[in-house]
Amino acid sequence: MESTPLLLPLLDELLEARGRLEPADVAAAARAAGVPAARAWEAVRFYPRYHAKGERWLLVDEPVVRSRNFAELQDALEHAAASAGVAAGVVFSYGLEAVGPALVVERGPERRVYAPVSPEGLARLAAGGEPGPAAEELPRELARGEGLLFEPMAELPGFPGADELIEAVREAGLRGLGGALFPTWRKLAAVRQADGVKYVVVNGDESEPGNFKDRWLIEHNPRLVWAGAALAARAVGAGEIIFYVRGEYLSALARLEAARRELEAEGYLEGLATRTFRGGGLYICGEESALLESLEGRRAEPRLKPPYPAQEGLFGRPTLVSNVETLAHLALIARMGAAAYRRRAPKLFSISGDVARPGVYELALGTPLAAALEAAGAEVSGLQAVLLGGAAGTFVKLPDHADLPLDYDTPRQQGDSLGPGALMVYENGRDLWAVAEGVAAFFAHESCGKCFPCSLGTPHLHAAVARRERGPGLEELFLALEQGSLCGLGQAAPWAVRSLINRFGEVVS
Ligand SMILES: Cc1cc2nc3c(=O)[nH]c(=O)nc-3n(C[C@H](O)[C@H](O)[C@H](O)COP(=O)(O)O)c2cc1C
Ligand code: SF4
Repeated sequence: MESTPLLLPLLDELLEARGRLEPADVAAAARAAGVPAARAWEAVRFYPRYHAKGERWLLVDEPVVRSRNFAELQDALEHAAASAGVAAGVVFSYGLEAVGPALVVERGPERRVYAPVSPEGLARLAAGGEPGPAAEELPRELARGEGLLFEPMAELPGFPGADELIEAVREAGLRGLGGALFPTWRKLAAVRQADGVKYVVVNGDESEPGNFKDRWLIEHNPRLVWAGAALAARAVGAGEIIFYVRGEYLSALARLEAARRELEAEGYLEGLATRTFRGGGLYICGEESALLESLEGRRAEPRLKPPYPAQEGLFGRPTLVSNVETLAHLALIARMGAAAYRRRAPKLFSISGDVARPGVYELALGTPLAAALEAAGAEVSGLQAVLLGGAAGTFVKLPDHADLPLDYDTPRQQGDSLGPGALMVYENGRDLWAVAEGVAAFFAHESCGKCFPCSLGTPHLHAAVARRERGPGLEELFLALEQGSLCGLGQAAPWAVRSLINRFGEVVS
């Protein structure tokens, strides 16, 4: 099947060949993609890598380092950068929360990532050395213990038939593991019912601070994810799979591309057009409709819903947008059957912060929070909180909620959510306000600007948290964000802060 040329990969090719984009390149990419030149210029201005210039040293701001020595590292970075005459700044989360504080060295469109880094490492960088170990991918050993999702499947599952597979996914109880926890079988059934050209888009954008399980899967078990995507495409009747990978994860992209070629050679992808796509490098690109916009070469701004992607998705065609882990589970279900899958009920958790063994854990759904923390080597009696879900999550108080079952529905009944499955762990004495401030800074920075409750509200929220404000006026701001924002980014922006105030008000002043 002939694939439509996409604008961003054409720009990437020219950028790689030339080191920078000249006006003639932008015009050539627009012609090749069949879009007006103005659209290509808009993309060049919107997506950071197309207009990156010079050298910058960027400290990775995420909720674990915020509770530790973020300020000290920031001071050391500023000092080192000033002495070397280089610009300094921050970027948000690189999926390295379990590895340690990270630094990105950006030279034009090229980036190198180091973790863990220390003030001494930053001084070394200023003197022309390396600031710490290179961290272009997650260590394989970060997957802790035995896990079905960690095992390379020797023999990939055959296609059991569309009705059988969708029914098995329903019986298995699989939900969307990008964070919304929507029943997967419903989306499969909706796309299957639609007519005409259809797509499967794999959402591998994973940019939410605290989450790195999709990154591990892409880097270390990509065949399993492709298998799930191929089965999903056959079930819904799609002829093409596009794998959208977070723009910063170049090594992940290479692993995925290698696995794609392997599976193609083995005939597993027969009859399907498949390609990988380097994402735009912004958190909003992970929101499914913004992701589709960026695939189409536009600014990654969410669409109004309905229509949902299952009805009108990529190029207006019915599209299944599914998370990386969701599709890996789909392959497991096809392999082991719904009943065996349900008995095991596997789920990946990204565990970081104050635990002896941070990493990716496969635990049974419903595992009590305390048991998950103990598995990672934490003593629950010494902990004060877990930021559950990710930056768009909530602070769960310990030891009060030590028994909370980590399943799809119980956390929701008390105003929390598993989200994509991050557990960021904080021992007694950590400054949770500093964490909340980092989270608020993240949302203010990543707001795409399309709707005003979020574009105005998130900077206000950040300023209020920086002032450690807890007055009654704040709830109005929370509601304006939650109820007025167009997409999940603005809606979720106040959750961590609100949970901190409501649940820890007495201890954080
Ligand atoms: C701001 C924002 C960022 C998101 N980022 C991701 C992401 O990186 N990966 C992902 O799978 N889902 C992400 N989502 C959720 C997607 O919109 C969508 O629900 C998901 O890809 C659907 O796949 P699933 O049903 O398998 O979870 C994000 C949502 C929002 C609002
Ligand atoms: S809520 Fe924020 S991120 Fe979402 S559309 Fe509005 S401005 Fe953009």
